[in-house]
Amino acid sequence: TQQEALIRALPKVELHLHIEGTLEPEMMFELARRNGVKLPYDSVEAVRKAYDFSNLQSFLDLYYAGAGVLITEQDFYDLTWAYLKRCQADNVVHTEIFFDPQTHTERGIAFETVLAGIRRALDDGRAQLRISSRLIMSFLRHLSEEDGFRTLEMARPHLDRIDGVGLDSSEVGHPPSKFARLFAECKALGLPRVAHAGEEGPPEYVWEALDLLDVCRIDHGVRALEDGKLVERLAETRMPLTVCPFSNVKLRVFDKLSDHTLRVLLQKGLCATVNSDDPAYFGGYVQDNYLGCARELGLSGGEILQLVKNGFEASWLEEGERGWWM
Ligand code: HPA
Ligand code: ZN
Repeated sequence: TQQEALIRALPKVELHLHIEGTLEPEMMFELARRNGVKLPYDSVEAVRKAYDFSNLQSFLDLYYAGAGVLITEQDFYDLTWAYLKRCQADNVVHTEIFFDPQTHTERGIAFETVLAGIRRALDDGRAQLRISSRLIMSFLRHLSEEDGFRTLEMARPHLDRIDGVGLDSSEVGHPPSKFARLFAECKALGLPRVAHAGEEGPPEYVWEALDLLDVCRIDHGVRALEDGKLVERLAETRMPLTVCPFSNVKLRVFDKLSDHTLRVLLQKGLCATVNSDDPAYFGGYVQDNYLGCARELGLSGGEILQLVKNGFEASWLEEGERGWWM
């Protein structure tokens, strides 16, 4: 269709992607073999079959277990490089990715190993593939704020190679207010802030992310639609929402893609963007998310263009960094 051709032709950005969530089952087996790690699955097919989630937590359990095959700097490089090659194939010209250091430092992997591998791939991606990027260090909200502070201390010597901070993992019961002091410290260090809010959690968590963490984007945010005052605030300030449609369906926030409220967000004047979250687990990369939404929601060419433009608007790209496409 024309919409499909438009989606493929447009240069796109991605703003909500967990690099650990790009670990395809094939690479999981390859790294397990390389590192002598034992997997609880006997085939790639068995892994894919296990990806039948009932909510966020049921996904996170597998996602953290899968990350256990990542050991060396080269593993983190290979993971990130494979993702960047996929960006190139899908006409993604800029990407802002999350990494979860605590998932790895908890297993005894050095912070420096994780950062060095991801960073080297991003640098090569810029030089060799012309893909610009940002790296966002995300704190795990099911852990304590104190653990977050310890992670920030590990990051401190490397802040020239970290572009911002985020907040992810199990949302309900771990409101943004739990991390108010940590985010204030990050703000004092000059780090831009984002937070997952309103994925499974209530609109109150989105208010807290705005007012207590002073974020410049909300990750997911789909539950904001339950609160009219919040929608007004988000629209007036053009606060971006990094929406992840395939993720929302796989984690049962919506029953099916045709039920997704992406179009409603646009109609209310919100700066909604399309992203993939954890593409290896949720059945597609960012372009697949656009294609799926265009098909199932009947997006017009104008709506597709608006979503793509919103991505550039919401990105941390600077004037001098812009390519031929803007
Ligand atoms: N939500 C919370 N934590 C996460 C997600 C998500 O969508 N993906 C990876 N960690
Ligand atoms: Zn996410």
